[in-house]
Amino acid sequence: MNLNIFEFEEELDIAAANDVVKVINENPNAALGLATGETPIGLYQKLVQAYENEQVSFKRVTTYNIDEYAGLGKAHPQSFYSFMKTHLFAKVDLPEGQIHIPNGAALDLEGEVERYEALLKQAGQLDVQILSIGLNGHIGFNEPGRTLHAETHVVPLTEETRQVNSKSFPSLPDVPKQAITMGIGTMIKAKKIVFIAKGEAKAAILKQAFKGPINPLVPGSLLQLHPNLEVYLDVKAAKFLYEG
Ligand code: PGA
Repeated sequence: MNLNIFEFEEELDIAAANDVVKVINENPNAALGLATGETPIGLYQKLVQAYENEQVSFKRVTTYNIDEYAGLGKAHPQSFYSFMKTHLFAKVDLPEGQIHIPNGAALDLEGEVERYEALLKQAGQLDVQILSIGLNGHIGFNEPGRTLHAETHVVPLTEETRQVNSKSFPSLPDVPKQAITMGIGTMIKAKKIVFIAKGEAKAAILKQAFKGPINPLVPGSLLQLHPNLEVYLDVKAAKFLYEG
């Protein structure tokens, strides 16, 4: 794991975005794994800027989002598709047909899981996977538990995750109770992982994820197994990771 620590968030966003831009410029047909949440918003802004400055094109890129809420269709304002559209998809030259995200509105969720997993298998190894971590250690919606799934699956969201994510919804009961998530096995098969975390609130879980034992109760700890893991943290998030 390569640890990159920045004093200012913007420096971190620029460095992480440059890493992704480099992957695309080396392989214009790159397959990207994308994450949502507050953490990667700055990275997406910097990717949009790089596109506007003609430093990168998404014309031949394909994207695979790691998760989506069950029950929310693409047009729902809180869907992860809407998030991606707002922060990246509508602002770059990525053709709609090259965007992949689980269909949260599918009536047959297990059928949707199979469809998405088949797409991922067809895509093969993702060139870069962008990830962040939840306060409880989840990666995508791979929630802490006694077992972790390698492949795409339907997951019940923990109450903690629903509480944390309720900030994006009108109220807690509006937060879906289930999601579809890419499995952690697919994520860690990516050629490269660009991992970002910011803020003091994440410091303790980052210590567990990167300094603790590999443990399904801290899904992020699985990332330690990845041979090409670039970790971008601000100083607050990195506070327990300095020494050793
Ligand atoms: P956040 O979410 O970026 O909004 O903190 C991260 C996550 O839950 O994976």
